[in-house]
Amino acid sequence: MLLHLSDLNFGTERPECIRAIKKFCEQHQPEVVVVSGDLTQRAKLKEFYACKQFLESLKTPYFVVPGNHDIPLYQLWNRFFRPFGLYQLFFGSLENTLVTEHFYLIGMNSIRRRYHTRGHISIEQIQHVDDVLQKVPVNKLKIIVSHQPFYTDNENHHLKDCPALGQFAIKEWGQYQLYALLHGHLHLVAVYDLNKEFQLNLPHPVYEVHAGTAISTRLHKNMPNSFNVILNDGSFQHWFFDEASQLFVHHEKVPVSPD
Ligand SMILES: [Fe+2]
Repeated sequence: MLLHLSDLNFGTERPECIRAIKKFCEQHQPEVVVVSGDLTQRAKLKEFYACKQFLESLKTPYFVVPGNHDIPLYQLWNRFFRPFGLYQLFFGSLENTLVTEHFYLIGMNSIRRRYHTRGHISIEQIQHVDDVLQKVPVNKLKIIVSHQPFYTDNENHHLKDCPALGQFAIKEWGQYQLYALLHGHLHLVAVYDLNKEFQLNLPHPVYEVHAGTAISTRLHKNMPNSFNVILNDGSFQHWFFDEASQLFVHHEKVPVSPD
């Protein structure tokens, strides 16, 4: 089981959601916890420190990528000359791979100063992922993790919040049995099949998985805090924070966003 968290935005965290995620991990023992960016709200030292403490407390291997909130917004010197300084101090490389029992995770940094909201991926990144995907053992589900989504049908976002080369990249990576991409950023929960949405004519789906915010008070409209689970057979689950029980609860259907 893979636990997919996103948009923790430490600095705006809810302690009750943190406690509930710890309980979930104790009970379900996921083999890895993935965080698809926006670990912090304002890329501050104390926010990165709190995030690191939280992830270490789960006693589970974890895998993170940066989000646009993880580079400084107002500290202009750091924003321009060392935007990832604090992120790398706590989490090391911006792009990692991790092999677990059922999953092969490829992290991709889509954060650029110039493309702060929509993000960007380069031709070099696309080619590098091509090379990695071709070497992945066939018994692993191949999963790419990056912050901004590559597709959305949400009428308030469309493709303006997606990296410009996303569709081109999926055409490339789809050739190598890519199973899924895990994203956050929009604070919306969704799963799409990019093989259908981009009309790729592949013999298999390529899933685009969006996670909401797991612990932040910055909720999209009235959507509850949430996370995703990928089971070992590749099926997806969405779990939502239940205010009454103070636990995350599995819902068969995603609650409909008011917009
Ligand atoms: Fe974001």
